[in-house]
Amino acid sequence: VIDIRKLYADGDVFTFDPGFTSTASCQSSITYIDGDLGELLHRGYPIDELADKSHYLEVCYLLLYGELPTAAQLEDFETRVTRHTMLHEQMQYFFRGFRRDAHPMAIMVGVVGAMSAFYHDSTDISDPWQREVAAIRMIAKMPTIAAWAYKYSIGQPFVYPRNNLDYAANFLHMCFAVPSEEYVVDPILAKAMDRIMMLHADHEQNASTSTVRLAGSSGANPFASIAAGIACLWGPAHGGANQACLEMLRQIGTVDNIPEYIKRAKDKDDPFRLMGFGHRVYKNFDPRAKVMKESADEVLNLLGIEDNETLKVAKELERIALEDEFFVEKKLYPNVDFYSGIILEAMGFPTSMFTPIFALSRTVGWISQWKEMIGDPQQKIGRPRQLYTGAPRRSYSEVEDR
Ligand code: ACO
Repeated sequence: VIDIRKLYADGDVFTFDPGFTSTASCQSSITYIDGDLGELLHRGYPIDELADKSHYLEVCYLLLYGELPTAAQLEDFETRVTRHTMLHEQMQYFFRGFRRDAHPMAIMVGVVGAMSAFYHDSTDISDPWQREVAAIRMIAKMPTIAAWAYKYSIGQPFVYPRNNLDYAANFLHMCFAVPSEEYVVDPILAKAMDRIMMLHADHEQNASTSTVRLAGSSGANPFASIAAGIACLWGPAHGGANQACLEMLRQIGTVDNIPEYIKRAKDKDDPFRLMGFGHRVYKNFDPRAKVMKESADEVLNLLGIEDNETLKVAKELERIALEDEFFVEKKLYPNVDFYSGIILEAMGFPTSMFTPIFALSRTVGWISQWKEMIGDPQQKIGRPRQLYTGAPRRSYSEVEDR
């Protein structure tokens, strides 16, 4: 690792690294990925162990504060999050300003950005206590925002948070309860939802997290910084891949059509890519995909959907791709998005909600990374350099002379 800052201080030397494939933008002690081993650690704990033994709010505590909580610390943290799940009542009008057919991600970008207009006190980033309050507010309110974006898009009344439910169950309640019927959250689905949230909680300096850090490096408030991260996450090469992946699996339709799509993915002249495959850092199995695959089987069995064609297509596609020289050579393996859409669809979510669920799960990662950055004495405004390839200096010509 070369500390380029020293070279730069001595003269005008800098790296040209499109896509930052080999440039570290910060030091961080939150998440570690070993791309060759296919290992993901949060504060040192392997993700598969957390997915097996922990739960989302405990992982949130771990990411934010660096250690697993004691029972008392966890209770206190859960109470603080629970007490902040309501949105300012006036924010409803903000939702109502959108077209009904707006994508829920578009609503989330707008509403989260607008939070700085409703929670002024948390925008004072010089005050560590306000930074703490902003973090709790963000984690607590994001499920309400995502659920309301969904309710609004289907023309149903907003459902207020129920604070006697746990985090994931409350989210399902806000999405699926209707005033005319008693809605009881299935604990098995709540557990599956909680696991999806855990698997998406943080992933070091991915595009959206780097966006949050870059936006926040100028001193922008945390709500504005996270709104920028949500916008970045929306892209199909990043968080939008879960929606794109399920749409692709549906388009493939049956296992007989798989070879045609594999052929297209290998064709250099065809822009088609296998969605849910490949990763900038993992050159081995994404450990989250393994857990997600098991969860897909569990959830579908529990819901009595044993004969799911999309899951069959996904498994067969994975099998064929992993035996194909092209994918083996390029080290392209299924990523977290490959199976998540199948589970979310089985739970009753439309594809447009997949990326909002990713966003609400990733909020803790964004806010933990933002807090780490703000508290870092080495922190500077993010300001990449460029290699200029435009015209050399020239004189202005009057319009009639051009
Ligand atoms: N299908 C077919 N070929 C692929 C795929 C894919 N999914 N992914 C990469 N490749 C090929 C590229 O064509 C390229 O080939 P080349 O060397 O012959 O030009 C090579 O593998 C390397 O690909 P890059 O795009 O250079 O790799 P990069 O690290 O920039 O991109 C990315 C990683 C964006 C994830 C890419 O693999 C991709 O587009 N995957 C599909 C979208 C997706 O699933 N995104 C979710 C990522 S995980 C997350 O955000 C939660």
